[in-house]
Amino acid sequence: MSRANLVFYINGKKHEVGNQAAFQPLTDYLRYGQSLCGTKVVCAEGDCGACTVLVGRPRSNGGRGFNYVPVNGCIQYLYQIDGCHILTVEGVTGCQSDDAAACRLNPAQEAMVVENGSQCGFCTPGFVMSLSALAYCDYYKDYASNQADSLKSALTGNLCRCTGYEAIVKAALSARYDQFQALSQVYDEPAILNELAPLLLDDVHVEKDNLEGEGRQVFIPASVSSLCAYLAENPDAVLVSGGTDVSVNMNKREFRPAKLVSTARLGLDQIEEQDKDGRVLKVGASVSLAQLEDYMKEACPEFYKILWVFGSPQIRHAGTLAGNIANGSPIADSVPFLMLAQSTVEATSAQGARLVPMSEFYLGYKKLALKPGEFISAVYIPMPVAHEIVKLYKVSRREHLDISSFTAAFAVQLDGGLIKHIRIVMGGMAATVMRLGEVENFLTGKPFKLETFKQAGKLASSSLEPLTDVRGSREYRLKLAENIFSKLYHEIEEESLVKK
Ligand SMILES: Cc1cc2nc3c(=O)[nH]c(=O)nc-3n(C[C@H](O)[C@H](O)[C@H](O)COP(=O)(O)OP(=O)(O)OC[C@H]3O[C@@H](n4cnc5c(N)ncnc54)[C@H](O)[C@@H]3O)c2cc1C
Ligand code: FES
Ligand code: FES
Repeated sequence: MSRANLVFYINGKKHEVGNQAAFQPLTDYLRYGQSLCGTKVVCAEGDCGACTVLVGRPRSNGGRGFNYVPVNGCIQYLYQIDGCHILTVEGVTGCQSDDAAACRLNPAQEAMVVENGSQCGFCTPGFVMSLSALAYCDYYKDYASNQADSLKSALTGNLCRCTGYEAIVKAALSARYDQFQALSQVYDEPAILNELAPLLLDDVHVEKDNLEGEGRQVFIPASVSSLCAYLAENPDAVLVSGGTDVSVNMNKREFRPAKLVSTARLGLDQIEEQDKDGRVLKVGASVSLAQLEDYMKEACPEFYKILWVFGSPQIRHAGTLAGNIANGSPIADSVPFLMLAQSTVEATSAQGARLVPMSEFYLGYKKLALKPGEFISAVYIPMPVAHEIVKLYKVSRREHLDISSFTAAFAVQLDGGLIKHIRIVMGGMAATVMRLGEVENFLTGKPFKLETFKQAGKLASSSLEPLTDVRGSREYRLKLAENIFSKLYHEIEEESLVKK
């Protein structure tokens, strides 16, 4: 079955949208279409969090209810939220009345008032939504919400330019997260899910007619087979997963593809352990970076560390691993680890699925080894083995919500005082993330000494040709590539001393 309208809920109310209305950011629809002006827009590119809303997707795999996550409404287009329940700042007070005076504030709003967490107030709804996420999102279920550090990390996607963060953090610390009204008391979620269930079996095909008569269309397949059939006919269509790259290009760079395909409803949102030891993971194409971060906390703390500083919570909840790989950026933060782990991309089309090693996936700057009609359906990640020391580095101008200037990844096996085996990957040094085979050969079999690593650093910097751009000069990057080897040596040394 197929339908031509998007269907979603906002604060418990059903919305049906078709034609050109479907091709707008959620924030435009909320503010100009629905007069829900609590959601603000400042940057329109995912950087400030003023537009934060909670997106609830029906849980997959037989789970009940919605899984709510905080995202930036400015870079979620309506076609990405088909089948979802959206909560805006107007919808988390637990008030269904049109009479504002009859509504009471939720604990986050109350705390912001008491602690003077708001001056001009433009950022405040975004902060309230990020704080409400602490009460409503599974992602935060084990969160130490009474600790300043963890609360600050929940707020890294929200900027305030006038109040200052001290008052906001105080508000975050004093909010009573256990006193939020349960969403099930406010909204009839089972009724909403019943209404959505049959609609979620449909493919959705929305066409927009513009004045020049040129059609623009979005396709939302409900299954992999529908997607494959569509891509076979429309190999020029642009895939949208989390949209954190695509939507920014639409908002800021006039990117107007004629055909869009959303992967949001394919159900490929599982992380599966492929063998009993959990050595090889299969990460589905729609798995968000936040899901992966959560998984890696125990499975690979070193990769978790990189995912934790990836964008902001809002970006990680929307963005996917597949999107980060397919974006093809030489400074993509997940790619160095994936290449280091010798991961494999599953490319699927109407002809079937094939596996492409990450080392062969990038053919040049943003040039992928995907054939027309293929999409990334999964990524297989062999997890590091016990005797392998894995070290990952991201250099950026600030810790959170910043794009890397330089990345590096190392997997080292030591045997006595010798380097038995080493793999090295660097990003930001060429048109693609790359393995440093020559330096690996140089280090293999050499003694584990600072001098050896210094020589390796010199060899690395002499063999690389990075560019100068806004994130760093060529000379700065070469220095980083050289010095990172000494840092690696000292860190391994220090840790083995600790173990003794
Ligand atoms: C504020 C902000 C902060 C950011 N911070 C970081 C950061 O710290 N580190 C970092 O690496 N990146 C960062 N990014 C970039 C972006 O968030 C990531 O690249 C993210 O992983 C993209 O995933 P997505 O699902 O949103 O991709 P989308 O925007 O949906 O797609 C990205 C590209 O991949 C293609 N694509 C998507 N899915 C598939 C698929 N299944 N098969 C084939 N092609 C596909 C799309 O056509 C598009 O070309 C940031 C972006 C923003 C806006
Ligand atoms: S308006 Fe700044 S993140 Fe959306
Ligand atoms: S209160 Fe003015 S920007 Fe935060």
